[in-house]
Amino acid sequence: MQILFYSPDNKPEPWLAGLSQVLPQARVQVWQHGMGTADVLPADYIVAWKPPAAMLAGHAGLKAVFNLGAGVDAILQLGAALPPNVPIVRLDDAGMAVQMAEYVSYAILRHFRRFDDYEAQRRVGIWRPLRPHDKHNFTVGILGLGVLGSRIARAVQHFGFPLRGWSRSRKDLPDMTCFAGEEELDDFLQSSQVLVCILPLTAETTQILSRSMLEKLPKGAYLINVARGAHVAESDLLALIKSEHLAGATLDVFRTEALPPQHPFWQEPRIDITPHIAALTLREESIRQIAEKIQALEQGEPIVGIVDRSKGY
Ligand code: NAP
Ligand code: GLV
Repeated sequence: MQILFYSPDNKPEPWLAGLSQVLPQARVQVWQHGMGTADVLPADYIVAWKPPAAMLAGHAGLKAVFNLGAGVDAILQLGAALPPNVPIVRLDDAGMAVQMAEYVSYAILRHFRRFDDYEAQRRVGIWRPLRPHDKHNFTVGILGLGVLGSRIARAVQHFGFPLRGWSRSRKDLPDMTCFAGEEELDDFLQSSQVLVCILPLTAETTQILSRSMLEKLPKGAYLINVARGAHVAESDLLALIKSEHLAGATLDVFRTEALPPQHPFWQEPRIDITPHIAALTLREESIRQIAEKIQALEQGEPIVGIVDRSKGY
């Protein structure tokens, strides 16, 4: 069995060693630009993050492409360059869901308990207890109730915030109000005091966080975006924070990463910025999951996490 590996964000050696250990029958090689065609480096499986089209071309016996992340927007962008009829398999949690739950819980609590305001006061030496937010009106709305969104919901429930979620198909999750489809989006938004975005980036969700949508949130609402930067119309967000329609935002993802030094978000103290770390791809968990799925495919068994190319996630 031949496995080809590529990731611009990870050192390949530990991945090669890990994959070889759990799949001793496999020959695992790193793909690099200019290395040769599929004739030279044939592959049964590709394990890759943001692969270039050249890596995917021409592998006659290719059985699956494993995406080293939950989001498949980068790989699906390759469009016609993707091998037809070969399953593309996303990471399915693999340790990311609990990290997302931690990150989003922190961001919600930081704003709810006004630590962001205390931090601003502390910078100028002010000792002043502030009026707390009212928990009953502090509704948390989660856009996206998939693998990561439903885990975030479970974590947030512990703190007793009113909770609502929005997805494409209707969900029935305990202790929260679930909304589905575009026709229910406005109802979902109108009392979401905190809006968490954990949607996949698709044609329908690109720029979804634009002025027209963000204006439907109650005045003083707070945005947490842990999905993709291209969900946000950045100038709209900035304008709504400056006009105080929104109280602020915690952003982990950006249209351009790394966020350029001259980007106006850096100058806005009500925007908290992290460098796309909300949920990291964990090597051991990911290797274990990919190996289990390869073994299942080799036995002709079904696997979960196959991307629906028509939906884009
Ligand atoms: P997932 O399991 O595929 O869940 C996606 C959710 O979004 C589903 O509930 C889906 O609805 C909903 N959705 C998709 N399109 C929609 C639409 N047009 N209208 C309404 N709802 C829609 O994805 P996941 O594993 O939770 O991951 C979500 C995203 O998180 C990834 O795609 C990735 O971009 C991002 N991510 C970020 C980081 C980071 O570190 N910042 C790390 C990992 C992932 P249905 O349930 O009805 O299908
Ligand atoms: C990270 O952003 C991922 O999609 O896994």
